[in-house]
Amino acid sequence: MLIEFVGAESAPAAQTVLAIVVFEGEASSIQSGAYARAVGASRFTGAKGQSLEVGSSDLVDRVVLVGAGKAAEFDAMAAENVAATAYGLVKACGLKALRVVLPTDAPETAARAAFGVRLASYRFDKYRTKEAADKKPSILETEIVTGHADAARAEFVDLAALADAVAFSRDLTSEPPNVLYPAEFARRVKALEALGLEVEILGEADMQKLGMGSLLGVGQGSIRESQLAIIKWNGAADPAAQPVAFVGKGVCFDTGGISLKPADGMEDMKWDMGGASAVAGLMHVLAGRKAKVNAVGILGLVENMPDGNAQRPGDVVTSMSGQTIEIINTDAEGRLVLADAVWYCQDRFKPKFMVDLATLTGAIIISLGNDYAGLFSNNDALADNLLLASKAEGEPLWRMPLPAQYDKNIDSSIADMKNTGGRPGGSITAALFIQRFVNKLPWAHLDIASTAWKKPSSVPTIPDGATGFGVRLLNRMVAEKYED
Ligand code: BES
Ligand code: MN
Ligand code: ZN
Repeated sequence: MLIEFVGAESAPAAQTVLAIVVFEGEASSIQSGAYARAVGASRFTGAKGQSLEVGSSDLVDRVVLVGAGKAAEFDAMAAENVAATAYGLVKACGLKALRVVLPTDAPETAARAAFGVRLASYRFDKYRTKEAADKKPSILETEIVTGHADAARAEFVDLAALADAVAFSRDLTSEPPNVLYPAEFARRVKALEALGLEVEILGEADMQKLGMGSLLGVGQGSIRESQLAIIKWNGAADPAAQPVAFVGKGVCFDTGGISLKPADGMEDMKWDMGGASAVAGLMHVLAGRKAKVNAVGILGLVENMPDGNAQRPGDVVTSMSGQTIEIINTDAEGRLVLADAVWYCQDRFKPKFMVDLATLTGAIIISLGNDYAGLFSNNDALADNLLLASKAEGEPLWRMPLPAQYDKNIDSSIADMKNTGGRPGGSITAALFIQRFVNKLPWAHLDIASTAWKKPSSVPTIPDGATGFGVRLLNRMVAEKYED
């Protein structure tokens, strides 16, 4: 999607659809001849979610009015959403360009509207070879009308970097599991060195030496080699400044292993690497906008398969921390991957804090539905920072408890702990399991099984499928709280 910021006096491109964004209650101010009659004869008031086609004009082939909601509530998020809604309405109408006229003229609003269109126009279509031309999106260019084009363009630079990073994350999550296995994921992350990131990839032999028996046990039934990706961004003025750290669950496919999942819906488990793809996207945007922070991203990349060499229920593995784990259910594999990734992260980097993201439990979907991810944290300040950023970016989190009295549910009679705590509070005992590898560092865990994939999506900036959930909120938190 090509984005341009243009003055109202500029001539629209050929084949343009004009979207006029209207505040609630101000529809009657659309005086211009033909529109006034259409508006008068309609129920269009400018309320959020409303739209009305009002024909064409001398300059453009089609005109549509889009409701922005109340003027007093029109913030950056509303600008983003209304522009995304406008794009969604006309994206396949056959015309080539969209021109958006906003009801206010702040350059930040114009930039946010452009950002909304960029996010909304994301599409993963590389494997479609036969889609009819008249079914494909036709709008390839968007003009945002503003009296401050230069300022809007400047404002858009960091947002464009963020949109690129979200798209990178969504691409990883959308790729089929025969294409995106651990080594391929690692290769795509290694390619981020072009942005100025430093990337190290550890293979199974390296992880064996480090004693990562917990992570390696998950991957041992797969012919694909497990990988640990370590991504570093050094943007702080002091190169030795303590980093912030992010860890992602990257199960490139989760069959459940010997505790095999039912066939129905198993294809969803290609996106069981949504935590790792969010961390990769976050590192992408930190580099893309040259964030003034030192940051580390660690991705535990494995494939969970049943096989003659697969891990069994009853096995006992030794994690890098030295703690032993009795495997009760091989389908509770994400926490086993995180146990070693999180331990390695705090042990090697001694970060200010650590946030892990994981499509960890089906139970979080039962608890929160598909609009909220679960937030678990041992540190109120970190949790509050995450909640603030989450609100500002429209990536909702809900804080869940870490009750000490549930911790005994993962005690084992044969090892230091077992990898499941039963069905009650399943997301909580999963988080308590990870906490045993955090070594008292300020830490938060985001269970994004509920939000990594949305189908159907109810948010105009998120097309159906991979959401990239987490990239925006973590980027915002870093920008507002942890940069020089
Ligand atoms: N990857 C799944 C969790 C999941 C479920 C993610 C649905 C996205 C959508 C995870 O590895 C898993 O299988 N969890 C089990 C844990 C149980 C065996 C204790 C679950 O949630 O059922
Ligand atoms: Mn599983
Ligand atoms: Zn899983």
